[in-house]
Amino acid sequence: NVLILDFGSQYTQLIARRVRELNIYCEIHPFNKIPEDLKEFKAVILSGSPFSVLNPEAPQPDLSQIKGQFPLLGVCFGAQFMAHNYGGEVASSNTREFGRANLNFIKEDSDLFQNIDEHSQVWMSHSDSIKALPDNFECIASTFEVKNAAYKIKGEQTYGIQFHPEVYHSTDGKQLLENFLVNIAEVPQTWTPAKFADMTIASLKEEIGDDKVVLGLSGGVDSTVAATLLHQAIGKNLYCIFVNNGLLRKNEFESVLDQYKHMGLNVKGVDASDYFLDKLAGVSDPEKKRKIIGNAFIDIFDQEAGDITNVTYLAQGTIYPDVIESVSVNGPSATIKSHHNVGGLPDFMKLKIVEPLRMLFKDEVRRVGAELGIDAKLLGRHPFPGPGLAIRILGDITKEKVRVIQEVDAVFIQALRDWDLYEKVWQAGAILLPIDSVGVMGDERTYEKVVALRAVESTDGMTADWVDLPYKFLQTVSNTIINKVKGVNRVVYDISSKPPATIEWE
Ligand code: XMP
Repeated sequence: NVLILDFGSQYTQLIARRVRELNIYCEIHPFNKIPEDLKEFKAVILSGSPFSVLNPEAPQPDLSQIKGQFPLLGVCFGAQFMAHNYGGEVASSNTREFGRANLNFIKEDSDLFQNIDEHSQVWMSHSDSIKALPDNFECIASTFEVKNAAYKIKGEQTYGIQFHPEVYHSTDGKQLLENFLVNIAEVPQTWTPAKFADMTIASLKEEIGDDKVVLGLSGGVDSTVAATLLHQAIGKNLYCIFVNNGLLRKNEFESVLDQYKHMGLNVKGVDASDYFLDKLAGVSDPEKKRKIIGNAFIDIFDQEAGDITNVTYLAQGTIYPDVIESVSVNGPSATIKSHHNVGGLPDFMKLKIVEPLRMLFKDEVRRVGAELGIDAKLLGRHPFPGPGLAIRILGDITKEKVRVIQEVDAVFIQALRDWDLYEKVWQAGAILLPIDSVGVMGDERTYEKVVALRAVESTDGMTADWVDLPYKFLQTVSNTIINKVKGVNRVVYDISSKPPATIEWE
């Protein structure tokens, strides 16, 4: 197990992903909440930060229980922090350094740089530099611009690197992390999906015993994998509830419910479309929509769960990025949108929570799902937001608007499948814009809705870029939509990346 201390860098999650790719388990904790029991950790990594170490408000971690006692790697801010605090000199550089650089020196025999090319490309993102190292530090790598690009503290397994090994553009970044974790810290590489599944099923069995668990299925990958793990652990004592909020994709409720039944899950489908749509009537504000949907879900769920006697647990498909994003509300980085699937229970539900996936990233959830034998088509489904089409209908929501966007979305998604593009896209959907535009159909002037299509590439939804779909494909989809979907006379394609845009429009 590896401990990553977070100072609020946008790249902290990437460090964790790279570590997990080495089949090594790791956890991210905020710098000011260092776990009390450090015995389970075999190595520690300090992340980067948006702060300069020279800023009086910069994070001030207490490393007294860590430095010199665990193999320790400081990345960017983490490296500067140690140099600054243990007697070196950090100063803001005349030129901010962002982007690619190449090493031009590696100390001979450096264990951290084993098997790394001496001109290896590294990714920089900093405005301060380590001008002078403390006496007991030695420089182990440089770039043309940055002399102290990497250092080691003599007589300790403590290292600092100015560049970011976790980003793909640092060509040997993974090798460097492997050198640190496997060769230097000797952390065993035993973290695999199969092992995770076995361990989780065993511990769920032990924790839950003969108690009953209720779980809300959403049709998405996370809740499905969580349900399957629980099903294998406790069988029929798992009660699944699948709510139709009226904002799902076309025919999704029926087809997914059917699939769940085939998987042997004990699932009850509840069609609450009217309840949700009534509550949403006239509401345009995106965050209000999210809250209303979250609360309506709790109402329905509570009602249904109340019908099952003697339930002790509520299971959720929460995954690691939700956990980290929620922690960071009080931490160094800001929340951009409120994702409503985290945040605890209303008092009246009084159930214990079980979250079998809370330590997994999305790609790991998929790998665990495959290990459990879940249908590849279900596992490969694009992510779909909890509030569903509500946040893809800009402005207020009506039944008619839901119908229009369901039809448009269905044409788009089916075409992606027909053209063998579905798997190449991370997420796709259609957005109903709150404007009408003029068109002409036959000899008639029309004044109808505009829809936007969005398809993005991403690995985790944190950053994303629009997909360069073939023009012929876009042409076919646009034609089909305008010809088939009554009420739409114009189709546009969204070519914005995240950041600065987001994936959803609301
Ligand atoms: P954004 O729009 O923030 O989306 O770039 C990133 C990912 O999160 C999904 N998303 C949500 N999921 N509740 C959810 O469960 C929400 O309120 C929500 N808002 C966005 C989005 O679909 C994308 O996968």
